[in-house]
Amino acid sequence: MINERIAKLINDQMNFEVESAYLYFAMAADLDCRDLDGFSNWMKIQGQEELQHVTRFYTYLVEREGRPFFTGMPAPQKEWESPLSIFQAALVHERKVTDRINKIITAAHEEGDHATVNYVNWFINEQIEEEANVKTVIAQLKLIQDSGQGMFMLNKELAARQLTVPPAQTQ
Ligand SMILES: [Fe+2]
Ligand SMILES: [Fe+2]
Repeated sequence: MINERIAKLINDQMNFEVESAYLYFAMAADLDCRDLDGFSNWMKIQGQEELQHVTRFYTYLVEREGRPFFTGMPAPQKEWESPLSIFQAALVHERKVTDRINKIITAAHEEGDHATVNYVNWFINEQIEEEANVKTVIAQLKLIQDSGQGMFMLNKELAARQLTVPPAQTQ
């Protein structure tokens, strides 16, 4: 059975993953307003991935005889200055997530909770990927600057991103 301290950290993270999804859907809406449907597709998939993370933490709590509780959350920002500032804000957010994941694992070590260390380790690799993916888009946006042709091409490229569903037993 999971101890109270770790259960709270996992539950907080589950709620933070909902908040992440919320933020990315708000960013997708801003991108759609700019007629950047490919950029918006990328961000919506990012949001859907966050919902998969919610399910991971939820499932883990239940399996360890914990209980998921959903809390309220602040409304996300509505508008950003530019597509670049959206992706820069996404990177700041992902770094915050990485920091939180590290703190959960540190706490799990302190509590001798090897099951949590093992389970949450999946998120260590996931966060490396998450940060790298956002950084790639930022680098491309910086290369293009304000070129319409560049934006057209990148929008097309980001339209191709698809949601990958992880195997059921690890979801
Ligand atoms: Fe996440
Ligand atoms: Fe993420």
